[in-house]
Amino acid sequence: MESLASVVLAAGKGTRMKSALIKVLHPIAGQPMITWPVTAAREAGSDPIVLVIGHQANAVQGTFRGAKDILCAMQEEQLGTGHAVACALDALAGFRGTVLILCGDTPLLRAETLKNMLAFHRDNSAAVTVLTAMMDDPYGYGRVVRDPAGRVTRIVEQKDADPEEQEIREINSGIYCMDSDFLYANIKALGNNNAQQEYYLTDLLAIAVRKELTCLAIQAADADEIMGINDRIQLASAGRILRSRINREHMLNGVTIIDPENTYIDHGVTIGCDTTIHPGCNIGGGTVIGEGCLIDGGVSITGCRIGDDCHIKAASVLEDSELGEDVTIGPMAHLRPGTVLGNQVKIGNFVETKKIVMGKGSKASHLTYLGDAEIGCNVNIGCGTITCNYDGVNKHRTVIGDDVFIGSDVQLVAPVTVGRNSLVAAGTTVTSDVPPDSLTISRVPQVNKEGWRLKKK
Ligand code: UD1
Ligand code: CA
Repeated sequence: MESLASVVLAAGKGTRMKSALIKVLHPIAGQPMITWPVTAAREAGSDPIVLVIGHQANAVQGTFRGAKDILCAMQEEQLGTGHAVACALDALAGFRGTVLILCGDTPLLRAETLKNMLAFHRDNSAAVTVLTAMMDDPYGYGRVVRDPAGRVTRIVEQKDADPEEQEIREINSGIYCMDSDFLYANIKALGNNNAQQEYYLTDLLAIAVRKELTCLAIQAADADEIMGINDRIQLASAGRILRSRINREHMLNGVTIIDPENTYIDHGVTIGCDTTIHPGCNIGGGTVIGEGCLIDGGVSITGCRIGDDCHIKAASVLEDSELGEDVTIGPMAHLRPGTVLGNQVKIGNFVETKKIVMGKGSKASHLTYLGDAEIGCNVNIGCGTITCNYDGVNKHRTVIGDDVFIGSDVQLVAPVTVGRNSLVAAGTTVTSDVPPDSLTISRVPQVNKEGWRLKKK
């Protein structure tokens, strides 16, 4: 394979987002915007990928920490796209081959499109190839100017275009393939004698034409793909398109999504076949869901591993938790991080869990808080049970053995252990360890004052 490097321009702030966060780090379908074009470049075979960064450089760099194929080049002052690419030259030192130039704000771009463009560029031994699209409303974009024979002659920016050029509907996507020798030899020659007094990368096309090198344009099959995000309205439209691609993929893999337009599955989620997902769900954080599961409406799942045949009932929230097979959750349950549930566990309505392990077949069916606990198999936790895990300073553990029956309205004041096969009677406050096979009961004695109400009248 011929060598390929990419330069991704991401130094600008993205003023129109009206945000404290730089534009290219706004999340879209679960990951920062810039990771989408970077992934497309990687899938097209780029190595290295040079990010030109400026505003919030550390945050952009941090997004790719540990990625060996990513290099960063600093552009202190944003003097234009041509200047931005010039800033990447040091990082590209020693590289020869094709350089792909992309923008960090085009999340819809697909690797397929880049591969087609690359093949076209290489087959024709071009110096420069630009990806273009036909737009009904080309306003704001650079326009592709062609000679009467249809050959590309140059790109003219909106602000520099004369009325006739403004009529051109073929626009510059800002995505290019360039031969590295051509790029290195000419990038420094760009001037800034234009309406914006910027160094325009686009002027390289006119330079190639003047030098009688091959300069080509290839149209994207789908104009959506080159959509650059400038404001939050476009952010939302692009998000909708990305999600529909993700949902489509899951459906083709055998997942039933009742209403794809109202189901929010992030990039990087795995779902087994014959799982059904009802509307209003948010699923992200690299969640893995098994086969044959049923996810009711309004469920939110992030960073979880869920086994086969589980039923997550409506409006439950699951965070960084692990579920075995045939587990039932909710409705309206909250699994907080560190919840690990064995097969056939049942967590019912209004139950909250945090950092617990619960063994096979155990149940907490209603109105319960279980935190920092280790619960064995076949344990029944009665309605209203609370692990009192926090003394205001430290967290303490509760350990409950196999086959224990905890009655309703029990408080377990941790640290405390309930031995296996014990029964804790309803209303008990457990403050010391319970031996195995025992009955534990602590209740305030009941007083009945007969006739008391009658005397009051
Ligand atoms: C650019 C193109 C235009 C094209 C459009 C497509 C030029 C001169 N014009 O215009 O023909 O239709 O993209 O969206 O190239 N950037 C830097 N440093 C800079 C300037 C820009 O890193 O000094 C980055 C921005 O962060 C952004 C990208 O380059 O990711 C494009 O810059 P932008 O200012 O949006 O260019 P446009 O004016 O839209
Ligand atoms: Ca732009």
